[in-house]
Amino acid sequence: MSFTKNRAHSVSSFLLCFSYLILTCLLTSEKVNGQISFACDVSKNPVLGEYKFCNTSLAVEERVYDLVSSLTLQEKIGYLGDTVAELTRLGIPKYGWWSEALHGVSNVGRGATFFSDVISGATSFPMPILTAASFNATLFEAIGRVVSTEARAMYNVGLAGLTYWSPNVNIFRDPRWGRGQETPGEDPLLASKYATGYVKGLQQTDDVNSTKLKVAACCKHYTAYDLDTWKDVDRLTFNAVVTDQDMYDTFQPPFKSCVVDGNVASVMCSYNQINGKPSCADPALLKAVVREEWRLNGYIVSDCDSVEVLYKNQHYTATPEEAAAKSIIAGLDLDCGSYLGQYTQGAIDNGLVEEVDVETAISNNFAVLMRLGFFDGNPAKQPYGNLGPTDVCTSDNQELAREAARQGIVLLKNDQESLPLNNQTIKSLAVIGPNANATSVMIGNYAGIPCKYTSPLDGLTAIVPTNYSPGCSDVQCANAQIDDAAAMAASADATVIIVGASLDIEAESRDRDNILLPGQQQFLVTEVANASKGPVILVIMSGGGMDVSFAKTNDKIASILWVGYPGEAGGAAIADVIFGAHNPSGRLPITWYPQSYVTKVPMTNMNMRADPTTGYPGRSYRFYTGETVFPFGYGMSFSGVKHKIVKVPQMVSIPLAQDHVCRSSQCKSLELAEEHCQNLAFDIHLEVKNMGEMNSQHTVLLFFSPPDVHNAPRKQLVGIEKVHIAGKSKAQVRFKVDVCKDLSVVDELGNMKVPLGEHLLHIGDLKHALTVKI
Ligand SMILES: *[C@@H]1O[C@H](CO)[C@@H](O)[C@H](O)[C@H]1NC(C)=O
Ligand SMILES: *[C@@H]1O[C@H](CO)[C@@H](O)[C@H](O)[C@H]1NC(C)=O
Ligand SMILES: *[C@@H]1O[C@H](CO)[C@@H](O)[C@H](O)[C@H]1NC(C)=O
Ligand SMILES: *[C@@H]1O[C@H](CO)[C@@H](O)[C@H](O)[C@H]1NC(C)=O
Ligand SMILES: *[C@@H]1O[C@H](CO)[C@@H](O)[C@H](O)[C@H]1NC(C)=O
Ligand SMILES: *[C@@H]1O[C@H](CO)[C@@H](O)[C@H](O)[C@H]1NC(C)=O
Repeated sequence: MSFTKNRAHSVSSFLLCFSYLILTCLLTSEKVNGQISFACDVSKNPVLGEYKFCNTSLAVEERVYDLVSSLTLQEKIGYLGDTVAELTRLGIPKYGWWSEALHGVSNVGRGATFFSDVISGATSFPMPILTAASFNATLFEAIGRVVSTEARAMYNVGLAGLTYWSPNVNIFRDPRWGRGQETPGEDPLLASKYATGYVKGLQQTDDVNSTKLKVAACCKHYTAYDLDTWKDVDRLTFNAVVTDQDMYDTFQPPFKSCVVDGNVASVMCSYNQINGKPSCADPALLKAVVREEWRLNGYIVSDCDSVEVLYKNQHYTATPEEAAAKSIIAGLDLDCGSYLGQYTQGAIDNGLVEEVDVETAISNNFAVLMRLGFFDGNPAKQPYGNLGPTDVCTSDNQELAREAARQGIVLLKNDQESLPLNNQTIKSLAVIGPNANATSVMIGNYAGIPCKYTSPLDGLTAIVPTNYSPGCSDVQCANAQIDDAAAMAASADATVIIVGASLDIEAESRDRDNILLPGQQQFLVTEVANASKGPVILVIMSGGGMDVSFAKTNDKIASILWVGYPGEAGGAAIADVIFGAHNPSGRLPITWYPQSYVTKVPMTNMNMRADPTTGYPGRSYRFYTGETVFPFGYGMSFSGVKHKIVKVPQMVSIPLAQDHVCRSSQCKSLELAEEHCQNLAFDIHLEVKNMGEMNSQHTVLLFFSPPDVHNAPRKQLVGIEKVHIAGKSKAQVRFKVDVCKDLSVVDELGNMKVPLGEHLLHIGDLKHALTVKI
């Protein structure tokens, strides 16, 4: 999303807009409830009760048809923009579509007021990159439920909208991307599970046909968008050159799951072009795939001002009218911005688009508002009408924010079992580093106002006496001030150094060019570690991976934790892990590359697959074979774990018809087809033993390496299970593997194929060969 029309200054305008919002909140802090926005208020205007569109006994389609038929062309065009004026004639109030809830109700967007003295904060969960590290689909949905409860409560007092443009499910393809922190990482399966879980939690459609919505979610940014600004390349004009194979096995899966499995109510198209076509004006991507193939039940919205971008920045169309027409015809229903409102009339007058296309678009928009109950009269008398201020920032909700951070935190190094620290024997702690007292840094971007903050310093000080020195004046750390910090470390029983990044380093419109710790942070860490009397714990707060090779090999640094941007309760969660109230089970959702990766690889190269002829190393654990600082899926716990395979087949056979070509000639792979894929599944039974004394939550990841055909990934995640295992005991884990779905690959043309031959299954350190034959 961008915030103003002045792209060259989109960052400063973001800040401007942000401070404007805060200023508005301050200036209006004496105000009570906002104006609750809903249509069909028969108490004000009894005539409305006779309109079919207000009749809740009728089907959504019928009501929408009635409403659209009651509008003039000018009114219809007005419903193409995100900020809709009041239509007094039909008793429809103004409505702002743009609200955000990436990890809690946010005050970004122009959809509503958001915070006042009635509800002054909302629960702020970790940034999705950390939540994803929990690999716990139940958690993704649980967070979504809490966020939508708080959103509905805020809607009921006139502070929030009903349509949220979250989550961001783009594949985190390059470690430099400033928005990677908003996403669930680099793996298509994990991103798909995150998308589905979070969307289900937000929308809570309680019937099979998903008619009613608690709030409407939106999966963005469709598609292959993951570059903001790199050298002189800008997201507004970037043409992502993507192969069919990468498209179908990497960039599309999270969006497909979001629509097909999550039943999301909206998809947002991205600014960038894909193979020369802007996604918001490409009927093959919008109408053919999202609407027809995936059967989106909802609306397609543009990224902010991206219709204007087609004309102004990309020069893709000769006139603004043509930009309006092309995007509507491609399948766009709603414009974040005012361009469609301004130019659609002209486009119709010039014969570039027809009124019926506008009707289709706004019907999709109205249908979502109907499903949200916006046309059902007073919300107080409807489901969720009882939610209010006491349902926001409850202790349960805040506890879930802490739990989410705990579940995501990844233990990357733990020499001599230095962690957990013992709260009886550690009597003093040096807490060092520019993120040691982080507050707003912990909630990242698309945040709101949190209920409260527990900084790492607060969290640790609640357990043992601490001494604190930031060591740098800010996270950029131009000049490390080591003297105080080193002196504290020299006298404390243990030292916790909390470094990393912030929105000043990685953010929207701010990609990194360097993935080392910023400024002199490395110098600070090394000096303080050398001076420390007790064990040193390095805590890295960041969205993207950091090349911390120096710390991996430094014997003075016993332990390393990655904590993402851990949300409002992040400091409490960090203390829970450091002092062993929680046994870590988070795993990296991204590959941590060495700095040499970003000096060699242009961010603009979208290819996932390596190219030996040019030395291009490929991207993500699925294709990259070079050195890593830490690999995808890496993460330790305080207890050793042993995996044992109890049951798994050595071989599976795919039944083929007598006349199938692969019976008479050698085939390397089989096209997926109904007849040979039916019920072709097997179970893997595992026994997982917790060798330690502590109870643990353990993450079991099942990967497969297909035979070397079709440029297949070297390794692909196909199963995720989370289990609780009591100290010194065992748990049974079962994976159900669907041969055609899970052991398939996408070929060069984008078709799903099952490779024949030896597949290697990986679970923990175990490998098991499985032959797939006909
Ligand atoms: C609403 O629609 C139902 C079903 O068609 C109909 O029976 C009822 O009379 C309608 N109500 C009003 C107020 O028109
Ligand atoms: C769901 O939709 C199908 C097809 O439109 C319909 O047959 C079925 O009755 C619907 N179920 C419910 C519970 O509305
Ligand atoms: C100290 O650690 C023990 C054992 O893990 C635990 O029971 C106790 O609650 C801890 N105390 C504090 C203040 O964290
Ligand atoms: C930690 O940060 C908070 C909020 O910015 C500030 O009020 C507090 O003084 C800081 N604590 C220390 C010890 O500097
Ligand atoms: C570590 O500290 C000692 C003094 O305590 C000093 O002599 C040595 O040079 C330091 N090493 C590094 C790498 O800073
Ligand atoms: C997954 O998350 C849910 C929700 O927080 C939690 O109740 C459950 O214990 C977690 N599962 C595991 C195995 O950690």
